[in-house]
Amino acid sequence: MMKKFNKSLLCLSIGVSITLAGCGSVNNKVMPEPVNSAVVSQIIWHDNKAEMDQFINELMAKMTLQEKIGQLNLLTSGWDKTGPTMSDDYQEQIKLGKVGSIFNAFTADYTRGLQKLAVEETRLGIPLLFGYDVIHGHRTIFPISLGEAASWDMQAIQDGSRVAATEAAAEGIHWTFAPMVDISRDPRWGRMSEGSGEDVFLGTAIARARVKGFQGDDLAATDTVLACAKHYAAYGAAQAGRDYHTTNMSTRELWDTYLPPFEAAVQEGVATFMTSFNELNGVPASGSEYLLDDILKQRWGFEGFVVTDYTSINEMVPHGYAKDLKHAAQLAINAGVDMDMQGSAYSDNLQQLLNEGKVSQAKIDQAVRRILEMKYRLGLFDDPYRYSDNDRQKAEIYKQDHLDAARDMARKSFVLLKNDNKVLPLSDKKSIALIGPLADSKQDMIGSWSAAGERWKRPVTVLEGLKARFGDKLKINYAKGAGYEFDHTDTTGFKDAIAAAKKSDVVVLAMGEKWNMTGEAASRVDLGFPGTQLALMKELKKLGKPMVLVLMSGRAMNLSWADDNVDAILDVWYPGTEGGHAVADVLYGDYNPSGKLPVTFPRSVGQVPIYYNMKNTGRPYDPQGAEQKYRSRYLDSPNSPLYPFGYGLSYTHFDFSEVSLSNSKLDPQGSIKASVVVTNSGDTDGEEVVQLYVQDLVGSVTRPVKELKGFKKIHLRRGESKEVIFTLTPQDLAFHRIDMSYGAEAGDFNLYIGNSSDTTNKVSFSLSADVDLLAANPAD
Ligand code: BGC
Repeated sequence: MMKKFNKSLLCLSIGVSITLAGCGSVNNKVMPEPVNSAVVSQIIWHDNKAEMDQFINELMAKMTLQEKIGQLNLLTSGWDKTGPTMSDDYQEQIKLGKVGSIFNAFTADYTRGLQKLAVEETRLGIPLLFGYDVIHGHRTIFPISLGEAASWDMQAIQDGSRVAATEAAAEGIHWTFAPMVDISRDPRWGRMSEGSGEDVFLGTAIARARVKGFQGDDLAATDTVLACAKHYAAYGAAQAGRDYHTTNMSTRELWDTYLPPFEAAVQEGVATFMTSFNELNGVPASGSEYLLDDILKQRWGFEGFVVTDYTSINEMVPHGYAKDLKHAAQLAINAGVDMDMQGSAYSDNLQQLLNEGKVSQAKIDQAVRRILEMKYRLGLFDDPYRYSDNDRQKAEIYKQDHLDAARDMARKSFVLLKNDNKVLPLSDKKSIALIGPLADSKQDMIGSWSAAGERWKRPVTVLEGLKARFGDKLKINYAKGAGYEFDHTDTTGFKDAIAAAKKSDVVVLAMGEKWNMTGEAASRVDLGFPGTQLALMKELKKLGKPMVLVLMSGRAMNLSWADDNVDAILDVWYPGTEGGHAVADVLYGDYNPSGKLPVTFPRSVGQVPIYYNMKNTGRPYDPQGAEQKYRSRYLDSPNSPLYPFGYGLSYTHFDFSEVSLSNSKLDPQGSIKASVVVTNSGDTDGEEVVQLYVQDLVGSVTRPVKELKGFKKIHLRRGESKEVIFTLTPQDLAFHRIDMSYGAEAGDFNLYIGNSSDTTNKVSFSLSADVDLLAANPAD
């Protein structure tokens, strides 16, 4: 089925601008529009709507029920499996018109071959849609998403998604299962690595950047792909950090913390949504009419399609929500799930459900239409093979520009957690001992969800990066030394590591978690160093040499021993294809680190979940206070984290002036400006992330001790000062109030500006009257 026209979409992105003025006023695109629950999609997808509707009406008039149900079926190809397999005969199913989309298939040739089956061997020749998990790069792998979040650089994140889309689209992929926008506050949960961390404001800004990057502003362009906001919803709040586990939360927490990044994705025109595996307050997400129909499709006006996560319709049976697969299919389609990923729930049951009157023809037709519309918008009815292009594939994958962007993003993502006595950069060191299981391990550099990144071949290791940078000019004494598998107990490698350390000026430890200890189905109860790594660190400590830890992990780890004992810690997450070069750049001072933590690092697992914007409690603990016993505290640990959200050092030093306010009273229609002067008082140029937090002192419901409401990343030459100005309006103070209406409440506020969430640089202001931003009640 081909058509003769191809129009691009008109995509109106939401203007996001920040006033950053002062000594050299700067404009920066980092602050998201405040999210207002009443706002529906602002993307116009309708410039060719009349033509599209006519085309799809005509097509659907020709389709049999079976052909329609086929469009709702998504199967994995045999190339990769990211969950249980229900059916291996996907090629046969394509020919029978029983599948409308395929995932885990890429390369121009492979996708072209499969597309041919659909186009040439089915009655109507409706093209397939190819999806894949292009999460943090396709071939050229960027740092894991949590690492990218640590850059606090929205333009770089958007550009990284653009590169990923360009490479993926050239290999026949139309649709990425990203961005993952789940807020996560529990580092036991391995999927923390795939998202943007614990904070709703930062997470919302990043959701916008990623959707823009993947989709560009023209879905019909052959270098853009459909994005997918996942996992909807509240998947990151799995109890006890165990993957797929239950989530229970108040409606207010859902709306204030977990939904805004999803809503922002809708506002940016995200084409698809993926349901989550978890149940939320007793209802599995794939059967939740509240989430899918009421909120997403009705309230937010989402016009794309909803796909399930892998077999999550089927999982409503073990959840105890559906009595069998047929019942599960009924619940899913009636709730608003359009496409079934890998579960064959729709293909096996919809016809019967329709015959029995349990599902309406209109429901099925709506789902089919939403999917066909996306195929239309991609231009697949013009040319089903337009993305499977060998020449473009050759030209685009691993392009030098892409590799350079990945290296730069990696450097931006590194967070310097400690640097005593300025041990870093290592520029004056003539010899180093490079020790640890992650020092020369290609497979680990690119983290999870990077299957097309040729894990065993392409990534540059830390050892390779250092050698490339220095050649013979630096003596590198390398020893693996320790193992990182959970059951690794063999210490025979310690000898070589100690010998290497003895010969060297400094010990650089490349340690942390193996790449597949984070990501899906990778929860942990212990956030320490697996295997013999810590034991080796303790042995090396006895030598008295300066020690630098280059940490690789996809979560907040417990670094208490390292913090007490090593001189410097650089968190490099899983830095991607060019990771080794980027580590060399930063260790030797070619690049000054500027990353800031997107998650709180605890002192121990017992503090988890721990995040900066907690509530105060009725008995807050004050370490300086007289009476300590009946306070909200631990007997055996401080309440405070090891490293707070927003924290990260630089090779230079930044001084912050006190905060000045344009006015200490904010009126309902007004705004106030809050500013600081930041001075680079160290001896190197560098970047700083200036962060603004607000505390609402009294509310109709209690409010967090601090909430991020703005940030700006600025570059300052040594000795340079800049004034950084934020504009605050009542919208920035809004939340879901006691009656679940959305708005800001009159009263007193503290405002903080600093370079971490633990800043004490504070002023006060008041809001003169309540401001109603949304009358409707999301709980209705
Ligand atoms: C994951 C999703 C992923 C899907 C397809 C699932 O197991 O939860 O994040 O997109 O597999 O690979």
